[in-house]
Amino acid sequence: MDRPLALHPVDTQLSRDRLQRPLRELRLSVIDRCNFRCTYCMPLGSMKGKGSFLPLEKLLTDHEIINLVKAFVGLGVHKLRITGGEPLIRPGLPALLEQLAEIPGLNDIALTTNGVMLDRLADDLAKAGLGRLTVSLDTLDPDILGTISGGKADLQEVLTGIAAAERAGFERIKINTVVQKGVNDHTVLDLLAHFRGSGHPVRLIEFMDVGNSNHWNPADVVPNAEWVERINARWPIESLVSTNPAETARRYRYLDGAGEIGLISSISQPFCGGCTRARITADGILYTCLFSNRGTNLMPLIRHSDGPGQVQQKIHDVWAARTDRYSEERGDGRHDESKVEMYRMGG
Ligand code: GTP
Ligand code: 5AD
Ligand code: SF4
Ligand code: SF4
Repeated sequence: MDRPLALHPVDTQLSRDRLQRPLRELRLSVIDRCNFRCTYCMPLGSMKGKGSFLPLEKLLTDHEIINLVKAFVGLGVHKLRITGGEPLIRPGLPALLEQLAEIPGLNDIALTTNGVMLDRLADDLAKAGLGRLTVSLDTLDPDILGTISGGKADLQEVLTGIAAAERAGFERIKINTVVQKGVNDHTVLDLLAHFRGSGHPVRLIEFMDVGNSNHWNPADVVPNAEWVERINARWPIESLVSTNPAETARRYRYLDGAGEIGLISSISQPFCGGCTRARITADGILYTCLFSNRGTNLMPLIRHSDGPGQVQQKIHDVWAARTDRYSEERGDGRHDESKVEMYRMGG
């Protein structure tokens, strides 16, 4: 139902959590479905058929999303990342983005996709005002990519999608590569070689223990420090100084000027200290950590309260009580209950 937007003025200074981290970024899942079945996210067989995904009527509507994002912006958020599942599956996404791009104070809108629908949608996304794109691509070996994606990914379709995004005007498209020992680690240098000089930074992501269905094992993780040595031996690199404490990636540049890479080392070098990210599922549940097993369902307030001010106050209260630092506490035995799957929570 449409409601007038009358947000309570909230002192943004107060939207800090118990560890003094401000709320600055919202990661919003717009749909939990995906056309891939990546082994580390939504492995084939883990989906129990009907009922595995949210029925479309349970998703936040565009109007509800706009009001919710405005509430977050009022609390200090300036950066929005659209995630899924595969966000491009959500019907009418460009129209939603167009409205999001008009929200004053929201100065960075990015989207993470597996790339195959970009051929059809990249132009519409650019016209709608989407600022930045990240494409997930784990290897350039078509067979390995097929295996990782549960038989769903076609390498040429992903590459065609990236080319379409370039033509639509997207620059510095981040390429996200989850590295799993013995699966795709031997193909990483080929992937880096392909994107050197393209202007698109590849980010190597340590395989993480998100959710419960990906059979994560610490032995499957390649610590990113190993890549610094291996890459440096082939193409000398130097680390770049970060001015942003909330950054997930440690950035490096090739000394020969062929561009940048990033290392996202949630396992070996956690970055919870600068974590200013809140997450919302496609059905309106707020999570304050990627590894949370409990969230706050905002839907009753979104659909049935007298105005959006109550939602904003609730978000503020939840954030103020936040103490999450899962990656830094990993292994302490306090998080063994079931975690939420990444395709529900967003990446
Ligand atoms: P921008 O700074 O917006 O460009 O993006 P980003 O660096 O946050 O990267 P992106 O959104 O592409 O996230 C990359 C990957 O980092 C995700 O797919 C996750 O695997 C991991 N990641 C992102 N945020 C978090 C987080 O808060 N905690 C942990 N442990 N991992 C995260
Ligand atoms: N470990 C690390 N990264 C993951 N992603 C999904 N599951 C995992 C995992 N278990 C990343 C994907 C994609 C984004 C949505 O999240 O590579 O870039
Ligand atoms: Fe889909 Fe991304 Fe999960 Fe792969 S990692 S199954 S592309 S949501
Ligand atoms: Fe933030 Fe949780 Fe990731 Fe740490 S583990 S960086 S607190 S989302």
